[in-house]
Amino acid sequence: MASKIPVAVLGATGAVGQRFVQLLAEHPLFEIAALAASKRSAGRGYADACRWVIPGDPPASLREMLVSKLEPNLPARLVFSALPANVARDVEPRFAGAGYAVCSNASAFRYEPDVPLVIPEVNSEHLSLIFAQHKVRGWPGFIITNPNCSTTGIVMALKPLHDAFCLNKVFAFTMQGASGAGYPGVPSLDILDNVIPYIGGEEEKIARETRLLLGDASDVKQREAEIKVSVHANRVPVIDGHTITMSLGFERKPTPDEAIEILRAFHGPAEVQSLPSAPKQPIVVRDEDDRPQPRRDRDAERGMAVSVGRVRECPILDLQMVIVVHNTVRGAAGGALLNGELLVQRGLVK
Ligand SMILES: NC(=O)c1ccc[n+]([C@@H]2O[C@H](COP(=O)([O-])OP(=O)(O)OC[C@H]3O[C@@H](n4cnc5c(N)ncnc54)[C@H](OP(=O)(O)O)[C@@H]3O)[C@@H](O)[C@H]2O)c1
Repeated sequence: MASKIPVAVLGATGAVGQRFVQLLAEHPLFEIAALAASKRSAGRGYADACRWVIPGDPPASLREMLVSKLEPNLPARLVFSALPANVARDVEPRFAGAGYAVCSNASAFRYEPDVPLVIPEVNSEHLSLIFAQHKVRGWPGFIITNPNCSTTGIVMALKPLHDAFCLNKVFAFTMQGASGAGYPGVPSLDILDNVIPYIGGEEEKIARETRLLLGDASDVKQREAEIKVSVHANRVPVIDGHTITMSLGFERKPTPDEAIEILRAFHGPAEVQSLPSAPKQPIVVRDEDDRPQPRRDRDAERGMAVSVGRVRECPILDLQMVIVVHNTVRGAAGGALLNGELLVQRGLVK
């Protein structure tokens, strides 16, 4: 077997960085060659620098790896970024400028017209913006991004319905798990026994990214889909998993049974289905009256599938449904990892 591609994780000590480390530990294409984080962590052993907040332990082979500074001198060709947006805005271009392929989870570059915002099953064709990015920025490397955690779940469920029935209105109400705020995140006295009806910037991100992902993008021209999106974002006392209830309006109104059939049949393009982290069934439709639920359904297909249920008629728009997405797997590290695998499949990272 050919040797694995050396990769680095930027922000490796955070909630999403740890997921990257967990998912990359036994990866068939990639091997972790460096872990980088803030000055606070640099120079320390990984297990010592990071407070491990996900199940299990840091991989034994990486416990002693010294955490690097966020400098573009890491022994890798591909870097996965789990940095806060304000840090990513400075650090990611320095890596792309030094020739690295950057798969970013941060929002810093998601809305730039020459930076692909990609969910492989939904809009893998938007990757062609990389060539425009080369022309515009002159970097030998590049940046690609994956969407916000809630957007990922919403758009995976909407994509097949949009293709079949032409979506024009989305009303979404999110109930987002606490790990979505990173570590230490929301103080326990704010989140326990409570619901916080505000997540800064989240509603705007979900609306914009939904239109971008379901729109067209080629040659630095992004055309957002003409869909009205109204979002209420809420933080709830669940650890992992975002639950989102939606009402949807279409140009051609489907029956619930038609919608369920389309959702169940959904598969990404063949090149995506064969990627190591791709779920066999990207959308899992639940028949039970009371599913999906975050605790029971967030791990569907190793956390890479979106679970959908309660598909029914809506008395105001056309259809209603509930979805659950694992925010740090499919909505963050797993989504970026799948983007990295797609880059290898396309020969954009060798
Ligand atoms: N959590 C989710 O569900 C989720 C989902 C989708 C997208 N995202 C995005 O993913 C990114 C990471 O989120 P997270 O939840 O993992 O955050 P987090 O737990 O706060 O981790 C942040 C990471 O960035 C490093 N860092 C923080 N401030 C820094 C600075 N000033 N300079 C250099 N490094 C710094 C930290 O290193 P130290 O440990 O050394 O401080 C840590 O490794 C964010 O952009 C977030 O919006 C998160």
